[in-house]
Amino acid sequence: MNEAERLAAFEARIHRGEKIEPGDWMPEEYRRQLIRMISQHAHSEIVGMLPEGAWITRAPNLRRKLVLLAKVQDEAGHGQYLYHAAETLGATREEMIEALLSGRAKYSSIFNYPSQSWADMGVIGWFVDGAAILNQTMLARCSYGPYSRANIRISAEESFHMKQGKEQVILMSQGTPGQRTMVQDAVNRWWWPTVMMFGPHDHESPNSPVLIRWGIKTKTNDELRQDFVNQVAPEVLELGLSLPDPDLRYEQASGNWLTGPIDWDEFWRVVKGNGPCNAERIAARRKAHADGEWVREALAAYAERQPTT
Ligand code: 3HC
Repeated sequence: MNEAERLAAFEARIHRGEKIEPGDWMPEEYRRQLIRMISQHAHSEIVGMLPEGAWITRAPNLRRKLVLLAKVQDEAGHGQYLYHAAETLGATREEMIEALLSGRAKYSSIFNYPSQSWADMGVIGWFVDGAAILNQTMLARCSYGPYSRANIRISAEESFHMKQGKEQVILMSQGTPGQRTMVQDAVNRWWWPTVMMFGPHDHESPNSPVLIRWGIKTKTNDELRQDFVNQVAPEVLELGLSLPDPDLRYEQASGNWLTGPIDWDEFWRVVKGNGPCNAERIAARRKAHADGEWVREALAAYAERQPTT
């Protein structure tokens, strides 16, 4: 087959709902897009451990500490699944880590905001992991087999992350005046960064067309964002909390909750490295990588001494 016939056969497979596997023929752009998306997803999981990790030693009781520990450990595992999925496409771990530590690779904007109180642990769990569930259950239907299977596994664990966060917000919203104030402050700080984490509007999303065409994404950024706002906005208001959006309104005709304008200047400022915590997050990852050098050396030395079969 010539290139055009191969592409047609590839796209016919996707339209039939078949999964593309590592050894299958795929357009180079399909491979490039997946390495970009999966590696940045993996980076997001690993960097995403930092805002919550900062509160493990400050948990208000043993139960909350155990739950937060379990959640942060899960995120590390999600990162591993995803780095492995990217490696099936020919990316090496070293290349991906170097891209992150050099600042060339992106990771989710949401993790460049500070976690300022214990209430942030609840709101991050409910909002950020809730948003991630919508995104990752969509990616569980991705046309690329290893990424689809990684997201099936991740999504199962993500629902626990969201539920533990939502439970905390509900309890604090019904708690003392100090707890209500603390959780409202966290809602105010995390709402817009979570709305933005779904990415730019569809008409300004250069990667989306090819991702949708080849079944990597099966919903657009705005569709997922709308699902999130429809799901969470009424529940937050139901708790007697407010949202930092005076223009938020329910549109009877569409059944959608419509937000006010999104501050895309803030979004791109954060994506381009000038958010509140970007430098701190990369510095923490660079230190962790340097501190782990001896482990990599020991593993390499051990591997060298193994008998070649
Ligand atoms: N943060 C940082 N960069 C972002 C971004 C965000 N929230 N949203 C978009 N961008 C970047 C894109 O990466 C792209 O840049 P690039 O071409 O250099 O990679 C550019 O902005 C244009 O955006 P597009 O909409 O064209 O990009 P995509 O079509 O790839 O859509 C995405 C962006 C929705 C993040 C998509 O890549 C995606 O679904 N990725 C996989 C899932 C993922 O990474 N989720 C992040 C959160 S993980 C998480 O929440 C962990 C949980 O346990 C808490």
